[in-house]
Amino acid sequence: MGREPRFLGTPIVNAAYPRQFPLAARQALYDVIHARRDVRRDFLPDPIPAEVLHRILDAAHHAGSVGFMQPWNFLVLTDRERRERIHRIFCRENERAAARFTGARAELYRSLKLEGMLEAGANLCVTCDRERHGPEVLGRNTMRDTDLYSTCCAIQNLWLTARAEGLGVGWVSILDPEEVKRELGIPESHALVAYLCLGYVRAFADKPDLERAGWLERVPLSRVTFSETWGTPLEASAVSAPVEPGAQATGQEMNCEITAGGPVPHG
Ligand SMILES: Cc1cc2nc3c(=O)[nH]c(=O)nc-3n(C[C@H](O)[C@H](O)[C@H](O)COP(=O)(O)O)c2cc1C
Repeated sequence: MGREPRFLGTPIVNAAYPRQFPLAARQALYDVIHARRDVRRDFLPDPIPAEVLHRILDAAHHAGSVGFMQPWNFLVLTDRERRERIHRIFCRENERAAARFTGARAELYRSLKLEGMLEAGANLCVTCDRERHGPEVLGRNTMRDTDLYSTCCAIQNLWLTARAEGLGVGWVSILDPEEVKRELGIPESHALVAYLCLGYVRAFADKPDLERAGWLERVPLSRVTFSETWGTPLEASAVSAPVEPGAQATGQEMNCEITAGGPVPHG
């Protein structure tokens, strides 16, 4: 018999909800989420097969995006010299970042490995076209940065599917984005969202590197979850509180009615 599927210590029961994924698939998804790591070391030099790269880029491309904007582009870099030029930008910015800390913290910072650009099989630059589909994007009129959030959703899809494929991903943000854009010929209207190191790895750590190095610890879930008003702890019972009979909203009540000049639907 296989092990009982569990998440956060709770067994995943096979309640018969329509369209629910089979137990093993749900367990696999939670496993991938927990096994995902930011990887900066232990990269293998092996190239990434084109079909694997295509699968994870396609997963990224299927992320949700505000107004279906799909504002992302993915720039794959394998050329050694180009990567070295980006690496030099990292080294300079990392030196500047280190200088912001003092004493033991500075010493610890300098001991951290914060990129794997030259060791990884490939580098991947993810950009966000802030002008895609013109100035009016459904859902973006008040929260302008939702295009950037959408791009981060794509990156998370990529990060998880890469892990499922056995590929490590390391996010490098210690860069001057404008300089990287110039180096790679990225158009003005596109924001640099992520510079990723991508490749097969010898091993995945079971905890974040920064946690293992003593930089920070994982914040307990109970400290970041509230109920109803800010600061009120979310009790486990609150999420499973039964809905009063007849109090359940119908689909119609949940949608705002759109009339000319009325509220704009969310994307
Ligand atoms: C937006 C973003 C930027 C990051 N930038 C860097 C970076 O420049 N260098 C680095 O080593 N890790 C970077 N990371 C990785 C985080 O340090 C890492 O996600 C965190 O320590 C938790 O570890 P885990 O991803 O293995 O769970 C970044 C992660 C995110 C989401």
